[in-house]
Amino acid sequence: MNARSIGVGVLGGLVVLVAADSSVSGDGGQARSAGSAPSAVTYTRHVAPILQRSCQTCHRPGTNAPMSLMTYEDVRPWARAIKARTTARIMPPWHIERNVGIQQFKDDPSLTDEEIATIAAWSDAGAPRGDSGDLPAAPVFPDDEAWHIGKPDLIVEIPKAHVVPANAADLWIDYIADSGLTEDRYLQAVEAKPGPGARAVVHHLLTYLIQEVDEDEVLSGRLDDRGTNAESFLNEFAVGKNGDFLPDGTAKLVKAGAKIRFNLHYHASGKETVDRTRVALKFYPKGYLPKYHQISLQIANAHPDLDIPANTLSRHDGYYRFSKPARVTALQPHMHNRGKRMCVEAILPSGRAEMLNCMGFEFNWHKVYNYADDSTPLLPAGTMLHTILWHDNTASNRSNPDPRNWVGYGQRTIDEMAFAWVTWTYLEEADYKKMVSERDKRRASER
Ligand code: HEC
Repeated sequence: MNARSIGVGVLGGLVVLVAADSSVSGDGGQARSAGSAPSAVTYTRHVAPILQRSCQTCHRPGTNAPMSLMTYEDVRPWARAIKARTTARIMPPWHIERNVGIQQFKDDPSLTDEEIATIAAWSDAGAPRGDSGDLPAAPVFPDDEAWHIGKPDLIVEIPKAHVVPANAADLWIDYIADSGLTEDRYLQAVEAKPGPGARAVVHHLLTYLIQEVDEDEVLSGRLDDRGTNAESFLNEFAVGKNGDFLPDGTAKLVKAGAKIRFNLHYHASGKETVDRTRVALKFYPKGYLPKYHQISLQIANAHPDLDIPANTLSRHDGYYRFSKPARVTALQPHMHNRGKRMCVEAILPSGRAEMLNCMGFEFNWHKVYNYADDSTPLLPAGTMLHTILWHDNTASNRSNPDPRNWVGYGQRTIDEMAFAWVTWTYLEEADYKKMVSERDKRRASER
């Protein structure tokens, strides 16, 4: 086992840490270090490109964000709020901690320290517009109503139209729909989206597959610790993201009679809106036999021990053993109102532990973090995935319904949970070794 095969991303994290340190200690004003802003910051030259990349996918007309940030006129009144939310790293919603672990993810809109400093300097300077000649071309957004995974083989909708009144409290709700699938098929790509015209009311949307599983048939590897249900995570809808393709040669079996669970967070937009959220599935051709099976399960839970006293910050641990070599492609923390943070480390068979990632948890946002293809942790057989989960049961947690109550495990939102949704594929030993050595070679040549 070579440290770099999973450590590459970790090394990337260390580089970030060094850069951040040098900006803290100062460099005598010689060079612009990470976290400092250019002088004479303007909207057109410095701020607009940042907003285009990291904000406008959500902050444009017709989406779930409260205001558009498309033009200077849109942005100007929000300058101070933008500084506050970006400095606190509340916006864009992305809770991967930057000083530890792997930093390469798909669809990562997060800002660098330098970008945050640029926005702050611009806001402090009175949010100047700048030269209109500096303004970059407006980005072209993909057609929200089109499917980006190609022509779907199957579209499944929530079983009934959901009406979000003009004004209402936020609602978290599950809908379960029959897929109508009459034969087993292998999933190649998946894309979920709110119903036409309903983007403004869908705050988040996750989909899950519910089916009877014959483990030997579905999974290429033996699972030693399944959850009690046969649910498997499918995907997350996120504005600006155009569906999920499974890696080449990797598939997920969708069985005849499968059901889809939609987990929705509705947020009233001031206008009564009817939603018919749907998910599109694209399958490999009939007869196709995938080399690898994608597994996506809630694992390493801390439920038997979950004991969260009143007015306390508490930590719990969960474990899950990979019986075969595994390539991890996505992580997502799952907790309820008091959830605060999750770290996931890999305890290797040698006993050495590698931190994969730490991430904040905010009940308002159920974020899925998909590793970039070249940064997916490659873990040897026998690796123990260790989750560390924190709950904040104090009054300083804004989502906490009542810090005076003890909380334990339960299904209701007022109870707590603590686990990771992890997406991975088991690899054959020889393929695992090959992937590790190819990645090491690629890394070495990049140095
Ligand atoms: C994934 C979608 C998304 C992205 C990306 C995003 N926002 Fe937001 N933003 C929202 C939503 C939704 C809200 C409403 C509050 C909430 O639900 O958390 C919000 C709220 C805000 C607010 C507070 C508005 C108020 O009413 O006070 C500000 C300011 C803001 N965003 C700025 C930004 C900036 C600047 C960026 C980019 C650096 C950004 N946002 C990126 C979705 C997004």
